[in-house]
Amino acid sequence: MTSQHTLDGEFTVAYRHRVRFERDALTSGTALAECLATPDAEPARTIAVLDAGLVDAAGNLPALVKGWFEKNARVATLSADPMVLPGSEAAKDGLAPVVEPLLASIARGALCRRSNVLAIGGGAFLDAASLAASLAHRGLRCVRMPTTTLAQGDAGIGVKNGVNLPGLPGPKNLMGTFDVPSGVVNDPTLLATLDDVHWRSGLAESIKVALVKDVGLLGLVESSTDALLARDLDAMEAVLIRTAELHVRHITEGGDPFEAQLARPLDFGHWIAHELEVQSHWLVPHGEAVALGMMVDLHLGESMGITAEGTADRVDRLLRQLGFLSWRLDSLEPSALMSGLEHFRQHLGGQLTICMIETPGRAVDIHAVDLDAARAAVECVCGNLVGR
Ligand SMILES: NC(=O)c1ccc[n+]([C@@H]2O[C@H](COP(=O)([O-])OP(=O)(O)OC[C@H]3O[C@@H](n4cnc5c(N)ncnc54)[C@H](O)[C@@H]3O)[C@@H](O)[C@H]2O)c1
Ligand SMILES: [Zn+2]
Repeated sequence: MTSQHTLDGEFTVAYRHRVRFERDALTSGTALAECLATPDAEPARTIAVLDAGLVDAAGNLPALVKGWFEKNARVATLSADPMVLPGSEAAKDGLAPVVEPLLASIARGALCRRSNVLAIGGGAFLDAASLAASLAHRGLRCVRMPTTTLAQGDAGIGVKNGVNLPGLPGPKNLMGTFDVPSGVVNDPTLLATLDDVHWRSGLAESIKVALVKDVGLLGLVESSTDALLARDLDAMEAVLIRTAELHVRHITEGGDPFEAQLARPLDFGHWIAHELEVQSHWLVPHGEAVALGMMVDLHLGESMGITAEGTADRVDRLLRQLGFLSWRLDSLEPSALMSGLEHFRQHLGGQLTICMIETPGRAVDIHAVDLDAARAAVECVCGNLVGR
């Protein structure tokens, strides 16, 4: 005799995704207090963790952070001096660089689920620190202060985190979770110490989201190239605010914040980009890889009759003006990048789904790729990557 009981239920959970742009957030702002405060009467216990690359470039940062907590002791207190841990892709080389030391410090400080992790740094560092925060006690509150252009417009705003398996060539972000930060505080003044590569890096993601969702943002970047090249903070801030806004709207209004469906419009150009990062052993930074990946998909889209002719030329011109598409590597086999298609499909599971551009601001998903056209596009865009 068989018996069966069906005990299904449904529930929804409301999230609030708070993103603030505020200059001088560590000295005169209010956004950090808003994000770190909890409903409890007691100040929120907090561990602050800083990207070592950022601290090298802006040496007074640990003191600034300590000073903020001294001034705001009624809102939040530090459980220990700010920790400085590796930034850049090294942060994501397994659990050892950032996740484990941060978890150990959370345990030493006896932080609980009502405590904060305040993570300050680039996108890679935030990916690793946010993972630790989401694992500790199944989720501490995590407040992020992104400090690269790419992180302020894109990585720091996302609701996912992750690190790679150590020592293995891909797939990226194999160990990761979806998690909504308690708050994101973007302070554009922290961008001043970036090198030129990482200053422009976030603009690749801005151009990406513009191509997918907003031709107006593409026009804004095009009309701001001189100011952006001159490292004008106002121009960069305007582009990043619009980029972040489109990103937040996609997460909160797009109907699929945790990527259960196949479509991933914000991953336009990323099947090639991720493969380039992995196969170059992280020598190609994310923004440079995204610029190259977008160009591959624009050429592919034009040759498959999906993308309006002239779009690739328009974006090529803009990316070159901004300094992209000039990256060179000692060794890389462009045809090997084609494996990115299968890795991309595996990551999503199910049917291959690639976002393509019809015209700037309008995107479409495709499920089959003309492989000969894809090989030709990869060769055309990535063929001259090798050799300085
Ligand atoms: N979670 C997401 O949704 C998401 C989205 C896009 C990208 N990402 C990830 O983000 C990473 C790339 O992030 P990134 O472009 O910020 O690069 P990054 O984190 O590697 O930072 C670049 C370099 O700048 C240093 N740095 C950080 N802030 C600085 C500052 N203000 N001044 C001087 N140096 C500073 C870092 O130490 C590092 O050496 C990739 O791992 C990518 O996969 C994640
Ligand atoms: Zn990206």
